[in-house]
Amino acid sequence: MQEDQKLLEDAKSVLAMNDRGSYTQPAHGLYPHQWLWDSCFVAIGLRHLDVERAQAEIMSLLRGQWHNGMVPNIVFRDDPQYRTDRNIWRSWVNPYAPNDVMTTGITQPPIIAEAVVKIGAKLAWPERRSWYRMVYPALLAYHEWLYEERDPHKEGLVLQIHPWETGLDNTPPWMAEMHDHQLPTWISIIEKTRFDKVINLFRRDTKSVPIDQRFSTIEVLCLFDIQRRLRRKSYDINRVLDHSLFSIEDLSYNAMFIRANTHLREIAKSLREELPEELIARMHKTEKALEELWDPYSGQYYSRDFITHRLLKFPTIATLLPLYAGSVTQERAKQLVQLLEHERGFGPAYPIPSVPLDSPWFHSKLYWQGPAWVNTNWLIIDGLKRYGFKEHAAALRESTLEMVANAGCYEYFDPITGEPAGAANFSWTAALAIDLIKTKA
Ligand code: GLC
Repeated sequence: MQEDQKLLEDAKSVLAMNDRGSYTQPAHGLYPHQWLWDSCFVAIGLRHLDVERAQAEIMSLLRGQWHNGMVPNIVFRDDPQYRTDRNIWRSWVNPYAPNDVMTTGITQPPIIAEAVVKIGAKLAWPERRSWYRMVYPALLAYHEWLYEERDPHKEGLVLQIHPWETGLDNTPPWMAEMHDHQLPTWISIIEKTRFDKVINLFRRDTKSVPIDQRFSTIEVLCLFDIQRRLRRKSYDINRVLDHSLFSIEDLSYNAMFIRANTHLREIAKSLREELPEELIARMHKTEKALEELWDPYSGQYYSRDFITHRLLKFPTIATLLPLYAGSVTQERAKQLVQLLEHERGFGPAYPIPSVPLDSPWFHSKLYWQGPAWVNTNWLIIDGLKRYGFKEHAAALRESTLEMVANAGCYEYFDPITGEPAGAANFSWTAALAIDLIKTKA
């Protein structure tokens, strides 16, 4: 109890430290802008401290929404200091980008509806209605855009065009595909001549975080190469998909989308708004299509290559996110819960690892290839509760809070030792610790 109190105070001070007025930066130095899913998680924590500030967080994010409905993964700070970041993306090359704010040209997991509903739960009905009214058109436009642009063959699953869109930047299925398809000649030459060691010296991220906890320089170059190709096509999805071999129907993204659709339907219902029939049909199709990602041989869900429909059979934290989606059967949910019980798999001392320990990809401190993250724990706790796995939910809540209380509000944690890694004073870790303390098991 006393420990919770101390963690609560620490977490509040992290959020205050990263507060930039209308939005919260994920971490000082490394992440100075506003990120989509970071701000949603931040708002979920902030609602316990100041509901209006939580609402402002979401409204600030929506300032970056494009006229076609896309919500970008980053809204840039307009400080002259960050001109390079804005220029890398040049969102103005696309006619739908807003004029007054600079953004990227890709999106991130659609957690906005979750944040909207969680904030709503803190408001009495008349205020909740006004809040829902305020954000509903933007939410609807975002979900319609996801279907329109990201499910071009009406398969039910939405595709992503850059690993950054999943938020799980270096997650194995994406990295494996990237190495298979995307090593352009100039990057291969850099790799062969070992020139990447020189480039290392200019990286901003490795100034704040040890290099063995981040992407390799070759991977960073590939990520920027993909980004440059998207920019060359002005972020126009038809042109992007025309010749690209690199698009994935990501499991984690689609699982979160299913939950977001459920929230959107509830918001619409409470406002007595009718969602377009076609949209509702597509939402149901997504739930069905998720089952196409199930692999009966290994008893797990996987991401799928958009072009070839090949399942990308790499177990990662995404494996467990159908629990959060809420659309899978109780039987399947039970099978996923069993995966949490293997110490050499998803159940080490400080769960949940972003890649299971028995995977050849596992590195205990390498970003999304092993460390435990508080946001994915939060999503899975939420799913476990809804499926009635109360004890598992309570245990995961407790180990998550213990990990953060011991090590501090870091970006990620070694799942074997609980040691902190990545950026210090990380906003979503703080915000979600607050939410876990305040909402109990
Ligand atoms: C990293 C994470 C991503 C997050 C961003 C800002 O890129 O992988 O999920 O949104 O940092 O914190």
